[in-house]
Amino acid sequence: MQDLPSKYLLTSALPYANGALHLGHFAGAYLPGDIYARFLRAMGKDVVWVCGSDEHGAAITIRAKKEGISPKEIIDKYHNLNKESFAQLGMSFDIYHRTSAELHHQTAQDFFLHMVEKGGEFDVQETEQYYDESMDQFLADRYIKGTCPKCSYDSAYGDQCENCGSDLSPTELINPVSILSENKPVLRKTKHWFFKLDKHSEWLKAYISEGKLDGKQHHDPQKWKKHVKGQCLSWLDELRPRAITRDLSWGIPVPLPDAEGKVFYVWFDAPIGYISATKQWATDNNKNWEDYWKNEDSQLVHFIGKDNIVFHCIVFPAMLKAHGDFNLPVNVPANQFLNFEGEKFSKSRNWGIEIHQYLEDFADFANKEDALRYALIRIMPENKDSDFKWDEFVDLHDNELVANLGNFINRVVVLTNKYFDGIVPAASENASNAISGIGKLMEEYAEEISNFNFRNGVSKFMEISSFGNTYLQDESPWSLYKAEPESPVIKDCINNCIQIVGILASLAEPFLPFSAKKISALLQIDQISIAQTFARLKEKREIINSGHQIGKPELLFAKINDPKDPTRMNLIEREKAKLLEIMKSALPDKENIKETITFDEFTKMDIRTAKVLTAEKVEKADKLLQLTVDLGIEKRTVVSGIAQHYKPEDLIGVEVLVLANLAPRKIRGVESKGMILMAENDKGELCLVSPSKPFGSGWVVR
Ligand code: MF3
Ligand code: ZN
Repeated sequence: MQDLPSKYLLTSALPYANGALHLGHFAGAYLPGDIYARFLRAMGKDVVWVCGSDEHGAAITIRAKKEGISPKEIIDKYHNLNKESFAQLGMSFDIYHRTSAELHHQTAQDFFLHMVEKGGEFDVQETEQYYDESMDQFLADRYIKGTCPKCSYDSAYGDQCENCGSDLSPTELINPVSILSENKPVLRKTKHWFFKLDKHSEWLKAYISEGKLDGKQHHDPQKWKKHVKGQCLSWLDELRPRAITRDLSWGIPVPLPDAEGKVFYVWFDAPIGYISATKQWATDNNKNWEDYWKNEDSQLVHFIGKDNIVFHCIVFPAMLKAHGDFNLPVNVPANQFLNFEGEKFSKSRNWGIEIHQYLEDFADFANKEDALRYALIRIMPENKDSDFKWDEFVDLHDNELVANLGNFINRVVVLTNKYFDGIVPAASENASNAISGIGKLMEEYAEEISNFNFRNGVSKFMEISSFGNTYLQDESPWSLYKAEPESPVIKDCINNCIQIVGILASLAEPFLPFSAKKISALLQIDQISIAQTFARLKEKREIINSGHQIGKPELLFAKINDPKDPTRMNLIEREKAKLLEIMKSALPDKENIKETITFDEFTKMDIRTAKVLTAEKVEKADKLLQLTVDLGIEKRTVVSGIAQHYKPEDLIGVEVLVLANLAPRKIRGVESKGMILMAENDKGELCLVSPSKPFGSGWVVR
């Protein structure tokens, strides 16, 4: 493996202090940061990992209004909640700061003023913006709702439609209303500061695509994830000036005489929060923050989810460069999204699980922290979206953590106690040759982690444990023990196994810090750093010295799915039951199945199979498609409200069910004869009901 640089400034996205974090956030930006920070520290590197709460932005004031409390109460509540959950899951931040801190306000204002003084970075422009006359204030994009021009969803925000994901500007919304008063807002002139991002596009292109900065090789662009580079490149061609000020009362005041009543846009001040956090950490620890932000030998890495890519790869680097004197990120290993049991996490539907909730629900489960960390690392959405499922959570824990790692360590500790009273036996001279294959696995483990491939890294770690299990099984010292308890072969085997357990204790730390501690305690050793483990291996020294007394056997982990002790599985069943309830409650009219009808009444409906022949959009109606279907005996024109769920070209040739004797109706000037049958879910998604195999047109459904 290549030598790693020696100094790092790592950041994880500052979470908004307006809500609790769920497993997806955790797996996206925090767990990866923790693995990397712990790994580098254990490799003897100088690391500062900063995070904290992002406490400005309209989302926080909206939340405060909803709950009838002040923004300050909201941020205090969620800052503490998130900070506490992170601590419980072992997040080893060097500081968890907050953007409401005085130091941060000062830092962000100074940063801005320095850019202003340098000149040429901002345009001050007058624009028209929505204003709520009844509330006497300008409306942030988030304060305006209306119909999405792209998908017709009726509750799109002024900056984004949460239904179709489109980026919007408030003036694009159809029928905009102020969410403060429900009134129709009016357009009014206001002045804003625009950061001239477009001016930076040339060097940004070289930086992103070639890893070049100021004509020098800055980083290896091959090491950036494909999806990260791809997203950046698609933006680089259309960079536009971005407003970095807002007419709001909550936020950091813009420190210019002609900017009264204005604050910074939250995405301007938040990333500067990484700098203020480092400053605070440096003050607390008698260090110099500039060593980490300005020294050429310091490596800046941002851990984020994919929704933050543009801000961290384009906008913030441009701000840093415009300001001058700051390092730019050498990598931004953003993750994609984690889903939950097949669907997106959704606060409003209560779908998913928040980390504080997990910690509460599983309070009685001794291995809850590493069980969660392990499962999330194994399924981490490193390059594509992935899905968290409770069944898989149980399988990964029981079949890998317990059956492989826990089992190996337990066997070794038991045998050492049984044969040698817990004292590590001395091995003969070349005994360690039998396990020399581990050196290569360790190299690969380190290589994968340093390249942000944590899934592969954790697999290499588990391979070392499998190696141990196989070795122990092949040697089977228990067979020899009966005939020849003093045999040097047994000593060699147990000594080797103890060395492997020592290696596992050391290498577990980035992934499974709680287990690493437990294993070390079991061995009665202090945690051995990864650098030390590598060094001893290289010098052919033992990781754990012969003659050392280890502890008594103690089960490291217990299976979740244990028929003899159902307590842990009951916790899982409880989670699954909750989900079932949510799914049921989303079903329409669950208590009210419609009034009973007779068989004769049912047979009045003439439902037939049919094949779609043509499909086209109905003009000026974004929900409707006009279809021709083949009913076997005749062809029909049917108008159907599925335009938002199916593209016309995807419908041609599809077999559907048609209610053929529905009275004809005129829809938008088109005579519709019959109705295509569909199922609708709680999100209003429509799905055609079709025969379950190719069937042919015109057959009767009964
Ligand atoms: N609060 C933002 C989010 O949760 C992330 C801010 S990251 C920072 O999406 F760089 F701006 F701090
Ligand atoms: Zn939309």
